[in-house]
Amino acid sequence: MELTYYGQSCFKVMLNGKHILFDPFITQNPLAKNIDIDSIEADYIFVSHGHSDHIADCVSIAKRTGAQVVAAYEVATWLGQQGVENVFGMNTGGSWKFDFGTVKCVVAHHSSCLPDGSYGGNPIGFVVMSTDRNFYYAGDTALTLDMQLIPHWTNLNFSVLPIGNVYTMDVADAIHASEFVKSPVVVGVHYDTFDYIKIDKEKAVADFKAAEKILLLPGVGETITL
Ligand code: NI
Ligand code: MN
Repeated sequence: MELTYYGQSCFKVMLNGKHILFDPFITQNPLAKNIDIDSIEADYIFVSHGHSDHIADCVSIAKRTGAQVVAAYEVATWLGQQGVENVFGMNTGGSWKFDFGTVKCVVAHHSSCLPDGSYGGNPIGFVVMSTDRNFYYAGDTALTLDMQLIPHWTNLNFSVLPIGNVYTMDVADAIHASEFVKSPVVVGVHYDTFDYIKIDKEKAVADFKAAEKILLLPGVGETITL
């Protein structure tokens, strides 16, 4: 399965023929200035919470592509008010069978409000289960014991975890998270975009290796196969 990274926590996977985009934040990200946002295809857009660095380009991409946007109920309702026609609101603990696979919404310990200050409900993570691959995108979250539930639902092929600290887990906690979810392969996100979350990438990869895990840090615009 191919995964393309667009900076911060934005990435896209191709799953059973569908383009599935997560947390679009590109035009306001200086590290993603070489990304042509109009070239990004999307059948679905999943949004973990309402903070700008996860939703800034959601409305424009959704309107251009007609993608269905899946988010917490409050975020989905707000997107509908911005003119996004195809929205689907979910909430923590709920799952839904889409045409590419089943997605379960899981706990993320963080906060959520929309860019205009509207209430964003609870932030969520997504467990994606399909005939091709199973993976967990944590969204923005602290390390939480709730992650230990995920292996009861599925065997993950990989996880996408925040590693930048300050607003989310740091590298050490992400290593614990990968143990909790029983997924030794991790794609690291939510780092380097802002001064506060700049990390030592070589050390991060080495720390994962020392824990007998693999940290993948694709460059912005890079596509990797998982
Ligand atoms: Ni956030
Ligand atoms: Mn964030």
